[in-house]
Amino acid sequence: MNYKKKCGAIAATLPALFLTGCISAPQAQEKLAATTLYDINRVHNQILKYKTWKPVNPEPVKLNVLVGAACANAMKAISTPHADKFVRVYVNDVGLAPMLEAKSPQFPAGTIIVKEKLPNKTSNTPEFFTIMVKRETAYDPDNGDWQYLIMEPDMAKLEKPSDVENCQSCHATWAKTSDFVSRIYLSPEQNRKLK
Ligand code: HEC
Repeated sequence: MNYKKKCGAIAATLPALFLTGCISAPQAQEKLAATTLYDINRVHNQILKYKTWKPVNPEPVKLNVLVGAACANAMKAISTPHADKFVRVYVNDVGLAPMLEAKSPQFPAGTIIVKEKLPNKTSNTPEFFTIMVKRETAYDPDNGDWQYLIMEPDMAKLEKPSDVENCQSCHATWAKTSDFVSRIYLSPEQNRKLK
């Protein structure tokens, strides 16, 4: 059903909706789009463009160094199955300011964070992607309303991790400090700029 027909059909049954929703087409279209905001294909399409987003750490950093840093900060010790791998993190515009500017960030709904796992520091060929999508309020309050996803290097599709509880419980380490987002790849200069 095209937009006009749909509007007509709704209008026939609900005159009030016709008046408020259909008179101004752009508004009505916006409403339709909002209901599909977190549609997996839509999120996937955005993620396919992640290379145009801001890299949070342009220089890939090594995982096991980060785990060491986490311990040095007296956080819960974090083990990683990916010792000797490098990571680079990207965030879309929605989450950019909290990521780079806020000492205690709260990420708005619509934030997407993509983590590349790289075989070495100069590689531009990720071996794997882990992803966090900040969903609408009450999507999953215990886990900060974050949705955890994974993607193979071919980027063909987004998948729900089989061990999503692991993602959630480990990221709960940062629930209070930074809205479940570790940010332990920020450089000392970036950390100093947080307000
Ligand atoms: C054992 C702890 C642990 C588990 C389990 C874990 N993560 Fe993480 N995650 C980290 C750490 C530590 C970082 C910081 C970067 C790094 O070391 O990779 C991180 C970073 C991230 C980031 C970048 C945003 C941030 O928090 O800084 C995303 C996205 C992410 N993880 C997604 C996932 C997903 C999806 C899963 C489950 C498939 C998962 N993580 C499981 C510890 C974990």
